[in-house]
Amino acid sequence: MGSTTGDTGTRTAVTVIGLGEMGTALAGAFVEAGHPTTVWNRSREKAAPLVEKGARPAADVREAVAAGPLVVVSVKGNHTAREVLGAAGDALAGRSVVNLTDGTSAEARETAAWVRERGAGYLHGQIMTIAPAVGSPDAVVFYGGDEAVYDRHREELRLVGGRGSRIADDAGLPTLYGMAVHGTMWGVLNGFLHAAALLTDAGVDVTRFLEQAGPSVSAVTSILPSIADEVDRGAYALEFGALQHHLPSVEDLVRESRDRGIDASFPGYTLDLVARAVADGHADDSYSRLVEHFRGR
Ligand SMILES: NC(=O)c1ccc[n+]([C@@H]2O[C@H](COP(=O)([O-])OP(=O)(O)OC[C@H]3O[C@@H](n4cnc5c(N)ncnc54)[C@H](OP(=O)(O)O)[C@@H]3O)[C@@H](O)[C@H]2O)c1
Repeated sequence: MGSTTGDTGTRTAVTVIGLGEMGTALAGAFVEAGHPTTVWNRSREKAAPLVEKGARPAADVREAVAAGPLVVVSVKGNHTAREVLGAAGDALAGRSVVNLTDGTSAEARETAAWVRERGAGYLHGQIMTIAPAVGSPDAVVFYGGDEAVYDRHREELRLVGGRGSRIADDAGLPTLYGMAVHGTMWGVLNGFLHAAALLTDAGVDVTRFLEQAGPSVSAVTSILPSIADEVDRGAYALEFGALQHHLPSVEDLVRESRDRGIDASFPGYTLDLVARAVADGHADDSYSRLVEHFRGR
């Protein structure tokens, strides 16, 4: 069984392995779009709501993988993904595996090699949204791996996220993209929540602050392209706004935090980085210079 024909045309048969929060959303999107959808989950009862909507439960992984050309995997950890797919045996050969399981880039590459050794095509996907947004036209998914798999299954992949794109042959790069976005997000969120603690300590509603200072806060992300350019070129010289001018501002932030009894460790970490770079002779360089600290140089 590879596809079915109905009044909406030919639909590729899809298998979804793993019916957690994300796998259930993925399988639901395929069923809703009219794809013959076979599902398998370790805890079988989780398949019931999908079966009610028209999905077919497989008795085991081998049967699930044998059901169609496209096998979508969404479980906890790439070790688990390999362990589960291993139960398919030689049924894996000739399939296209789209693994949407998070992990490190090395783990994604290991899984890619493992799947290819068994004669299947491989694409790794990093979903950049929560389960309820699966299938939305704005949902971003980064893919890395076989171009042929991506091209063959564009239509099905659009059902995962409308803004999916293949960024590399390298199956490890999507997870790195995801971490880069999340790492940036956590840095911004920690800075903002520290600021929120300062503001609320002074009796200021954070909402009111954003109404008045929103453009200044938004300007932070608008400088990222110039930071990226400096990092790519390794060129940190700057006429204005160099590290020596950051230093007193960060010192003020740390002193204000301590005066108010607010945890100063987050700005304190920034102060340590800036002060060390200035002491090391980089006072006239831009903030981008600190990438060398993170590189361990
Ligand atoms: N949820 C999100 O919003 C979201 C967003 C982006 C990416 N992701 C990624 O999507 C993947 C799945 O996440 P989730 O949120 O769906 O997780 P979840 O709700 O915790 O479900 C985990 C899934 O993994 C299966 N599993 C765990 N250990 C297993 C094992 N040893 N053998 C077989 N199956 C096993 C579970 O099966 P059982 O049901 O039998 O326990 C379940 O199907 C993860 O890599 C996650 O990081 C999730």
